[in-house]
Amino acid sequence: MVDGRERKTRIVVHSKIDHISESVAELWQSLSTKAIRHQRPFAAALSGGTTPEPLYRHIAETVQPSLWEHTHIFPVDERMVPHDHEDSNFRLIDTALLSRIKIPEKNVHAVSTTAATASEAAALYDKELVSFFSLKKSMRPRFDLVLLGIGEDGHTASLFPGMKHLVDEKKLVVASESDNAPHARVTLTMPVINNASTVVFAVTGGRKAPIIKAILQDRDIALPASLVAPEDGELIVLLDREAASLLTKDLILIQHELGKVPFRRK
Ligand code: 6PG
Repeated sequence: MVDGRERKTRIVVHSKIDHISESVAELWQSLSTKAIRHQRPFAAALSGGTTPEPLYRHIAETVQPSLWEHTHIFPVDERMVPHDHEDSNFRLIDTALLSRIKIPEKNVHAVSTTAATASEAAALYDKELVSFFSLKKSMRPRFDLVLLGIGEDGHTASLFPGMKHLVDEKKLVVASESDNAPHARVTLTMPVINNASTVVFAVTGGRKAPIIKAILQDRDIALPASLVAPEDGELIVLLDREAASLLTKDLILIQHELGKVPFRRK
């Protein structure tokens, strides 16, 4: 169990993905308005995979256009493929979000997948973070929002089960790979994720129910997603009812528009 995680974790179950999208877009609008009111840019790190596409589209449609000028978008992780490859996370973020909004080019930060190796690409992305966040030695970036998914094996970002030094990794960005996921990867490390002020997991579908139970209910710390616990921030877990179907009711703090949901009784 990760100390203190219960205190700062909000698990919300929505009846469908559209409501998860609305929830993330509202959060985005409010966090970015707050950052900009304090005369800071709003920095968000976004995941790839399949789940976030409707979320990004909804964000593009509903977030107030004037906020984009002050918003900086970073990838949580990237696969080492060209940016126009169908497996590219940049391509997903570009198609669903960037191409639909007016955001200055300099506000879009990407992993340079033309680098010779994933380690080189990781080093370049590290430099980009150090420069944007004006980091001195051993400082970590503080993202306003990190949006994560969870794989059926319990990975998050491209931090896979079995990777060494997940919580005590000194680097900001590392290269990674897994037999269960395509392509070499570049990923933000767990300490960077846990330094964010808000981290959101968005997870849908019955196939994810067992891993969601293992992470949220059983607290299996062998699973990288179990190690996400912002040190000075909040973790919000947004699930649809299928992904939440193996959780006991007492764990869920807020249920939206659930109707009769077959929660397991303790
Ligand atoms: C990636 C991701 C990864 C993803 C999960 C969930 O590039 O693969 O960033 O961590 O979020 O694998 O993916 P789905 O949304 O496709 O289930």
